[in-house]
Amino acid sequence: MQVGIDKMHFATSHLYVDMAELADARQQAPDKYLIGIGQSQMAVIPPSQDTVTLAANAAYPMLTAEDIAAIDLVVVATESGIDNSKAAAIYVAKLLGLSKRARTIEMKEACYAATAGLQLAADHIRVHPTKKALVIGSDIARYGLNSAGEPTQGGGAVAMLVSADPQILVLNDDSVVLSDDVMDFWRPLYHTEALVDGKYSSNIYIDYFQDVFQAYLKEQSADLADFAALTFHLPYTKMGLKALRSVLPMATTDQQTTLLAHFEHARRFSRQVGNLYTGSLYLGLLSLLVSDPDLKAGDLIGLFSYGSGAEGEFYTGRLQPNYQRGLDLELPQRLARRQRVNVAEYEALFNHQLQWIADDQQLDYQNDPQRFVLTGQVNEQRQYLDQQA
Ligand code: HMG
Repeated sequence: MQVGIDKMHFATSHLYVDMAELADARQQAPDKYLIGIGQSQMAVIPPSQDTVTLAANAAYPMLTAEDIAAIDLVVVATESGIDNSKAAAIYVAKLLGLSKRARTIEMKEACYAATAGLQLAADHIRVHPTKKALVIGSDIARYGLNSAGEPTQGGGAVAMLVSADPQILVLNDDSVVLSDDVMDFWRPLYHTEALVDGKYSSNIYIDYFQDVFQAYLKEQSADLADFAALTFHLPYTKMGLKALRSVLPMATTDQQTTLLAHFEHARRFSRQVGNLYTGSLYLGLLSLLVSDPDLKAGDLIGLFSYGSGAEGEFYTGRLQPNYQRGLDLELPQRLARRQRVNVAEYEALFNHQLQWIADDQQLDYQNDPQRFVLTGQVNEQRQYLDQQA
């Protein structure tokens, strides 16, 4: 029996800031952000969206009544959790109307955790092939205004339905993992923004990719030429390009051109959204599959997952004949319809998130077109609303 990703759907905010305008405001050359970092736009997440609402907004459009009846495992992977104890997946399962018999858990290991969730879900379906599992990577990337990491912020959620005989990608049981204690990026409980050693983190990312990719090639007696495309965690899209370039010397000139062309499709959506931590690798995969006209059933896709701290995993999937049917094909249009905010508006939204205090709070959610919104906090409990109920 084959198991893998049956459906994929993405949600982000309806707002973005233009990176050339942000560069200007920060007295940087626009090409530093556009080319050097590789970002054109950055999602601006309003206070009325958090990890829970982004996750629910990502999942609900792809789920049929049949899916909802079959889901018995819900994993929300996040490093922007809203509670130190209760799992975001419990809120998400309620908003989506999922079965109370489903296991609902939250997983954490920086940007890597959605991969752990996906592998857990695949193993679960191998044992229970009539069931389905919902895995969502949902995050808001925050480094702070005027920080070096600022142009690598963003946010959003990628929802994936895992099943037997999947429409999109069969996951191969060939993972190579590397995990070790590295202080490249972390966020102590008292911080709302990440602490990061940016240059060091970028070097560690490449080291981890080289380690797991070379080990994979050795273990599987494989060659770079076996892959139709490689996809990467994309904290900023230049990072994935650097990782790809680090293995290109192994390929012929023609293969290099092909791999670079596929990579341009894979980074298209991340270029418009920014980092979404746990969901980032899977937005890259979605971008590749939605945008790239030169893929076909049977193609082998390589996936490199990286989470600071640090954990890396390289594994592969085999593209299925009807993969387009499981994809979020309207995503390019939704991204194009977003509303541009200026830098002052972005800064105001950045500074007016729900505060980490016990007081009751009311948020301005009326202009947020997403189905699920956060309306505020009452008696120290977040208040969620389904605007279409
Ligand atoms: P910086 O130090 O301000 O930038 O921040 P820089 O000076 O290194 O410049 C960036 C690039 O722009 C360089 O290219 C410059 O040459 C180029 P590179 O040498 O890297 O190829 N550049 C220009 N290009 C064209 N025209 C110009 C121009 N000027 C300069 N005029 C840094 C960069 C990434 C350090 C910063 O944004 C940062 O700290 N980001 C956050 C950390 C991060 O994303 N790390 C990535 C690896 S860790 C990871 O992926 C995990 C993570 O997602 C978290 C998790 O796991 O939860 C972050």
